[in-house]
Amino acid sequence: MARIIRPTAYGSPEVLGVVEAPIPAPTDDAVVVAVRAAGVNPIDWKLYSGAFHEVEDEHLDSAGVGSEPLPQLGLECAGVVSAVGRDVTDVRVGDEVVVYPVTAAYADYVVVQSDSLFAKPSAMQWPEAAGLMLTGTTAAHALHAAGVGSGETVLVHGGAGGVGLMAVQLAQALGAAVVATAAERNHDLLRSLGATPVAYGPGLVDRVRNAVPEKIDAALDLVGTDEALDSSLELVGDRRRIASITGSARRAEAGIKVLGYGPGEDSGAAFRAAARDELIEKVRSGELRVIVDATYPLDQASLAHEAGLAGHAPGKLILVP
Ligand SMILES: NC(=O)c1ccc[n+]([C@@H]2O[C@H](COP(=O)([O-])OP(=O)(O)OC[C@H]3O[C@@H](n4cnc5c(N)ncnc54)[C@H](OP(=O)(O)O)[C@@H]3O)[C@@H](O)[C@H]2O)c1
Repeated sequence: MARIIRPTAYGSPEVLGVVEAPIPAPTDDAVVVAVRAAGVNPIDWKLYSGAFHEVEDEHLDSAGVGSEPLPQLGLECAGVVSAVGRDVTDVRVGDEVVVYPVTAAYADYVVVQSDSLFAKPSAMQWPEAAGLMLTGTTAAHALHAAGVGSGETVLVHGGAGGVGLMAVQLAQALGAAVVATAAERNHDLLRSLGATPVAYGPGLVDRVRNAVPEKIDAALDLVGTDEALDSSLELVGDRRRIASITGSARRAEAGIKVLGYGPGEDSGAAFRAAARDELIEKVRSGELRVIVDATYPLDQASLAHEAGLAGHAPGKLILVP
């Protein structure tokens, strides 16, 4: 038998429960991966929080559970291939892989389409490998959308978050200088990655101007606050060079690039898919590393989500089966 972590209702992290199920078999074009680590992302708790799905009272059964299927959790992981479908030719049992995208990776085993598999760099630990792809592809897309290039200066709001730490490193790999907002306790981490940290909060625009005399060419809003939007609009001359990964009505109206899966947003599906190989290469070459804040046993996913909801973890939260 294998464990799967699933929400038992819409709500807060205490709704997460452990389900026992038989170890899955692969379909012909897929493989089964024994999960060694699974990445935790804000989308995971948003999926069952009701943020994307209003469950109206009349659709609730007597236990208060909606009749529509509850979401599966876990969009990224790393592990060892344990079974291979008969049409899959380039993967073997025992291969160590990074997996993205996938559904239901909060589990001991997961079924994966073969085009979501990437050879794990041997120097990478399992938690780092599990946390590479979702934030990495998002950061790469944001930098691309904002047109960040060599010799430029980019402002990264939320530089110590999961996406932020990727953006800080990938921007410098493009040859750009980075100013990044973060809580004071994360400033040393950002400095160690080559960025200039500034505290967010009142006076942000002046602090950015004092920290770097050069003009700010582009900005990435990775936090979704009014402050991130307003300071970006003040500091960056061309609105098309501001990219946000958190949608809002104000962002939609501001003429900036809004990246995501909502109406009118740019999902960058093809760009993000192509970015996966480049992220692996950057890890191999030492240009990119995944910073893990904490690991949690798989069956304590609710604790990981509570930590994530607090919103100040520097880097990735990871589940380990
Ligand atoms: N559109 C997409 O495709 C896409 C993809 C991935 C993620 N997202 C969204 O992007 C957001 C960030 O994701 P993530 O994985 O990076 O989350 P995360 O790891 O939780 O990072 C969030 C960061 O925000 C910072 N922060 C908190 N309050 C702040 C404030 N008032 N001002 C400035 N920074 C603040 C925190 O930094 P300090 O600790 O320094 O305070 C924290 O490190 C989430 O809303 C997520 O759902 C969107």
